[in-house]
This record gives sequence, structure tokens and C-alpha cells, in this order.
Amino acid sequence: MLTETAEHGELIERLYSFSDLSDTRLRELIDDRTEADAELLAQRARERCEEIYGNDVFMRGLIEISSYCKNDCLYCGIRRSNKNAERYRLDPEQILDCCETGYALGFRTFVLQGGEDGYYNDELLCSLIGKIKSSYPDCAVTLSLGERTAESYKRLYDAGADRYLLRHETADKEHYEMLHPAGLSLEKRIECLKELKSIGYQTGCGFMVGSPYQTTDHIIKDLRFIKSFEPHMVGIGPFIPHKDTPFKDDPAGTAELTLYLLSIIRLLLPKVLLPATTALGTIDPMGREKGILAGANVVMPNLSPAQVRKKYSLYNGKVCTGEEAAEHVKELKSRIETTGRKLTAAKGDFAF
Ligand code: 5AD
Repeated sequence: MLTETAEHGELIERLYSFSDLSDTRLRELIDDRTEADAELLAQRARERCEEIYGNDVFMRGLIEISSYCKNDCLYCGIRRSNKNAERYRLDPEQILDCCETGYALGFRTFVLQGGEDGYYNDELLCSLIGKIKSSYPDCAVTLSLGERTAESYKRLYDAGADRYLLRHETADKEHYEMLHPAGLSLEKRIECLKELKSIGYQTGCGFMVGSPYQTTDHIIKDLRFIKSFEPHMVGIGPFIPHKDTPFKDDPAGTAELTLYLLSIIRLLLPKVLLPATTALGTIDPMGREKGILAGANVVMPNLSPAQVRKKYSLYNGKVCTGEEAAEHVKELKSRIETTGRKLTAAKGDFAF
């Protein structure tokens, strides 16, 4: 047992030069993981994170602008064919109100996230981004609005958007096709990610942990993709079934594996901005704190108007009124402090 842990310890020390590690060794690190491995990984991950970002945990105000979506991703509660989903969209005035509230609460990054909704054309978004940036020049605007054309990404960037989140969802083509309807492809997703990065966005990819059909080999592919793409941000969280989707009876991913992978990702890319996600906070009430202790350094409280939060229902039981709610930032702050880290109001750009 001791030798096994010692061997894993040696593997963990070698994670940064990840490409040298064979699939067999990585499979071992994931499949034969012990609590001791997780603790060592987390400790190393925290150290690496602190070397770069010090004691800071960054906060982002998440504004869920629309629950309309033209896509039909099999795992997602706001998929087009879910007739039970309550649809809403925020108009630019409402979004600006959220920013005003968020600014007063100390947020210096606004994340506009939504389904792929044609209402938000380039013209509307460029004008909105321009208004946010001129009202709050000390703030970053992050977009998370799915796949758009290269031209659109460029226009939004030129209008002032700083960052873009677009999870790759899985780096395995066949697995991608099992999670998405015909018409969506991994190839296209990767193309979008490359485009975003080359335009100059701080770019984020990511995947769900424990999504249906996911194997350890898929996870290894995800890790290899992340290492080679070198994103500025990585979002991972456990898959959680949604009652009105084809995956309603599939088991959820675990907080334990999510935390383990957060630590691995921190060691692969020491500078990455890594959130302890809402899904992690949903599956485990201490998920945020555990995420920070495993190497995450970002939290994204919900800044959407209270009356729409329930409607942005990607999965069952999404938390949105506790510490993850922007108005409870004081409570969140004290909870983060129990980890020895500090929630900061800084804009929190990538450490280039
Ligand atoms: N469980 C967990 N995460 C989900 N997402 C969508 N549906 C679910 C679900 N059922 C994630 C996807 C998407 C992000 C916005 O939310 O990874 O990219």
C-alpha cells in the first residue's frame, strides 16, 4: 500500500511534464487513486496556485441572460426539446441593472451566460458590452454564449469583451456524439475555441465529470487536450441529471473525482483560472471550499435577477439562493476564509 502511494507520489511530482506520462500511468493515477493521493495532489495544487496568485480567490458575477436555446444537448435542462423548461430572456436594461448591483457588491467581472439564443445578435451584444465597459472601465466582461461565427467573436471582442467560456464537453469524438445531437461536432467546438484564443480572448474550455458514457480514457483525452490547448480558464463540474432530459436516470458525477481532477488540472497548467463551480457546490454543500482546497481559485456567484434563477435550470437542484447567490457575498467571503484564502474584489485576469 505504502509503495503504491509512494509510486503515485512520484507520478504526481511529474504531472507538469504531463506529456511524458503514458496513458497507462495516468489511468493508474485516476483509477487506483487513494485518499493519500488526493491529499498529496491537493497540497501540491494549492502550493502551485499560491505561487502564482497568492492568497487570492477571484469572484465573478454570473448573469444568466437567457434560457432559450436552439441546441438540443442531451444532458442539458434548457435543451430545445424540453417543453417543460420555463423560458426567459433578460433585456439589455435588466442586464445593466445586474451589473450595477454586482458592482456595488464588489464584483469586477461580469459573466454573461446563456443558451444559444438568436435574440442576442451581434448588434445588441456589442452595444451592451460597450455600455458595460464604459460604465465600469475597471471590470472584465466574460461571455459564455456558445458557438458563434468567427466574425461574431471578433466583433464582440472589438466591442470590449475580455474573456470567453466555451466548454469542449469531451475531447473524444464518439463520446461527443453520444452527448450531442447531430449537427454539433467536436471538430466545430475545437475550431471555435482556437478562434477565440487567436482573437485574443482569455479563453476557457472544460468538461463535465461523470457525464453519461464517460470512461477514464475519455478523461485522459480531456486532460491531454487541456494541456495542449493551454486555455486561460478551465471549468469542470460533476454531471447532474436533469429530470426532463434523456439522461434523467443516469447517475451524477462525484464531488470526489471532480476535486481530484481540479488538482490535476492545476498541476498541468499552474496559471489557469479554475473555478469551484456551481455544480460542485450543488452536489456537495462544502463543494466551494473543497474546490479551493483542491487548487481552484475562482468562484462565480449568481447575479441573475432572483425571479429567473430557478428557470435557468441546467440540472436538478441547482443551488442559487445560498452562499452562491451574489447578495450573500459576505457569507461566501467568510466561508472562503475558512480555507485560509481570501475572496478579493480584484478583476482577476490571467497571469500572463
Ligand atoms: N450537469 C452538469 N453540468 C451541466 N451543464 C449542462 N448541463 C449540465 C448537467 N446536466 C454544463 C455544461 C455547459 C455548462 C454551461 O453547464 O458543461 O457547458
